[in-house]
Amino acid sequence: MRLLPLALLLGLLPLAPVSAQDVAAGAALFKARCAVCHRSEAGDRPGIGPNLAGVVGRRAGSAPFVYSDALKNSRIVWTTKTLNAFLTAPGALVPGTRMVVEIDDARERADLVAYLASLRK
Ligand code: HEC
Repeated sequence: MRLLPLALLLGLLPLAPVSAQDVAAGAALFKARCAVCHRSEAGDRPGIGPNLAGVVGRRAGSAPFVYSDALKNSRIVWTTKTLNAFLTAPGALVPGTRMVVEIDDARERADLVAYLASLRK
């Protein structure tokens, strides 16, 4: 199982229509647009923003980080859908959040979300 190429593995999961190319493109975007504030390796300390390893499936504002009350109290659970909405306009989904980076391009957002979904905690 571990020897299966990632692309094949992802292709076998019918509910995850995500390709290895999306994840790779997302990783490059993350490096350019997010990594100045966010770490993505499990166990890394938070930076200016919270560590995003394992972000899909967790409650917003629940990692070890001093969050805004707005995000902590948002009652959002991060899914591909809520992450897409957040990255479209963080302040529209969570008024008062300190996360201000917006990604206008839908393709770039999809790639970023695919990358975030690939991160394990
Ligand atoms: C200038 C610093 C900065 C940059 C750049 C940045 N963020 Fe953030 N991000 C933050 C901060 C600060 C928070 C916490 C916001 C709060 O507490 O309201 C945050 C929160 C988040 C959260 C919520 C995490 C959680 O644990 O609930 C996600 C998801 C996120 N950012 C994704 C991204 C992505 C993807 C990018 C790149 C496109 C990005 N951020 C770029 C600073 C940044």
